[in-house]
Amino acid sequence: MGECGLQRLCAMWLCLCSLLSLSAGTFGQNPAIKAVLTDKGLQYGSRVVMDWLRGRIELMSVPDISGDVSIGFLGSVHYTLSNINVVQVDLPVPTVAFSEGTGIKMAVNGFSIALHGNWHTSFHIIRDGGTFDLAVFNIDLSSLLHLDSDEQGHLSISSVQCDSNIGRTEMNFHGGASWIFKRFVSSFEGYINAQINARICPMIEQNIESLESHLAAMKVSFKVTPDLLIEIPLLSPPLVQSASTELDFKGEFYSVYGHSEPPFAAGPFQLPSADHCMVTLAVSEFCANSAAFASFSAGLLQTNITDSMIPKLSPIRLNTTSFGTFIPQLPKLFPNMLMLLQVFAANMPTVSFLPDSVTLGLFGSVKAYAIKPDSSLAPLFRLDMNASFSGKFFTADGTLKGSLVLDNMTVALGSSEIGTFQTASLAVALRTAINMAVLPELNAKLKTGIPLPETKYVQWVNPVLKVNEGFVMLTTDTKISPPGDQEH
Ligand SMILES: *[C@@H]1O[C@H](CO)[C@@H](O)[C@H](O)[C@H]1NC(C)=O
Ligand SMILES: *[C@@H]1O[C@H](CO)[C@@H](O)[C@H](O)[C@H]1NC(C)=O
Ligand SMILES: *[C@@H]1O[C@H](CO)[C@@H](O)[C@H](O)[C@H]1NC(C)=O
Ligand SMILES: *[C@@H]1O[C@H](CO)[C@@H](O)[C@H](O)[C@H]1NC(C)=O
Repeated sequence: MGECGLQRLCAMWLCLCSLLSLSAGTFGQNPAIKAVLTDKGLQYGSRVVMDWLRGRIELMSVPDISGDVSIGFLGSVHYTLSNINVVQVDLPVPTVAFSEGTGIKMAVNGFSIALHGNWHTSFHIIRDGGTFDLAVFNIDLSSLLHLDSDEQGHLSISSVQCDSNIGRTEMNFHGGASWIFKRFVSSFEGYINAQINARICPMIEQNIESLESHLAAMKVSFKVTPDLLIEIPLLSPPLVQSASTELDFKGEFYSVYGHSEPPFAAGPFQLPSADHCMVTLAVSEFCANSAAFASFSAGLLQTNITDSMIPKLSPIRLNTTSFGTFIPQLPKLFPNMLMLLQVFAANMPTVSFLPDSVTLGLFGSVKAYAIKPDSSLAPLFRLDMNASFSGKFFTADGTLKGSLVLDNMTVALGSSEIGTFQTASLAVALRTAINMAVLPELNAKLKTGIPLPETKYVQWVNPVLKVNEGFVMLTTDTKISPPGDQEH
């Protein structure tokens, strides 16, 4: 069966099962991303695979078959069967099931195929040729695939058992002096039958091996932004149970500038069973917090705010006159100057997943400067602020929706070059700015819905997002459009 076809198929399965993959040295670490394929998913996947295979088998080119067949005391006839095309395929629905502790077992009973091609024979100096029809009936095939992980954390697959049996072959020769060979057809049939049967399992094993080398070459680390990458090797062999298979991925973010580990570890989490869905994907708090830690340690969490970024309608401008409302001495010391705010994280943000709620803690500082007429900056003061937000997230119409509210915000004067002042009214103004400008914009986006990431070949059907204690989980059915389908 089309070699490259199976490889693409594998790529597709990977999209479904893993999305990602990565490096060793993580022994003992808890997974932060889990993917579960249920029996329902396996059945759907195998149907997609079979429909896809049926189309590919019809288009496949069959290698030439040649050999010698003994015709008794006369000696043997050398034959070649070439230009073999598939005329008809009858590929029954296979039975596929998880084989606990091993992988996947598959059986096809009654697969039949009709072929047409050319025959050539040479018997001493007599050469002859014509066409033939070959029908192979009732091929039974059973195979057991072992799922594992390699040292680099790739999913690995191997064939541990394969049996095939052919019920019957029927051959008809046309043209040439085929009538001479008609008498030998019965012995030929047995021979061809054995020849074909001997090739079925090696062909499957060869395709599994090429699938395996494809898997072994897959990346287990992906750049998600120019500054961040995620490592997703499997941390353990797939956990194959009778009704599902779970893949446990590392799921840890690092900055591209360094590979430092955060000062906290991934906790364990257990997925509830979701047999009604094909696929469950889950991401733990640790995965989100490793992204926060990596961003913070790489100094990515900082930005500058200038007056031009303040909404036109805001009554408060980023200048010393406007800030005189909060800091009376400021306009006297630096009259009529624009200001610059350097906002940076003083500590890593924290993300917590709680039942049906996500909380986000931000620990920041704002360093304020006056921009002097010569464009140099005069440091004014530093405010330290902690804020906590909580959000509700859900899926609707295939998109991620939700809302975020500001729960709590504390503001304190960290240091000042212009003497002390009260921060209470400034804190009120900041809270107002967040509630009136920042959150409404964000919530408008969350109300419209953010499309869930999909791949070209796998779409989510009725995805449901649920936030649990310590992890967020997406249960979904899928629609797979195998590669190749789009090519027609
Ligand atoms: C913010 O502005 C300061 C002063 O102009 C500059 O040194 C710094 O690189 C800026 N930071 C960012 C994140 O743009
Ligand atoms: C400062 O802001 C006030 C409004 O509060 C505005 O009237 C004034 O023109 C601004 N000054 C500068 C220099 O932008
Ligand atoms: C912010 O939180 C940190 C750590 O929890 C604490 O040390 C600091 O005092 C807090 N600052 C403010 C302004 O609440
Ligand atoms: C808000 O902050 C106060 C003081 O830091 C704290 O006692 C309270 O628990 C916080 N509330 C929430 C909802 O975070």
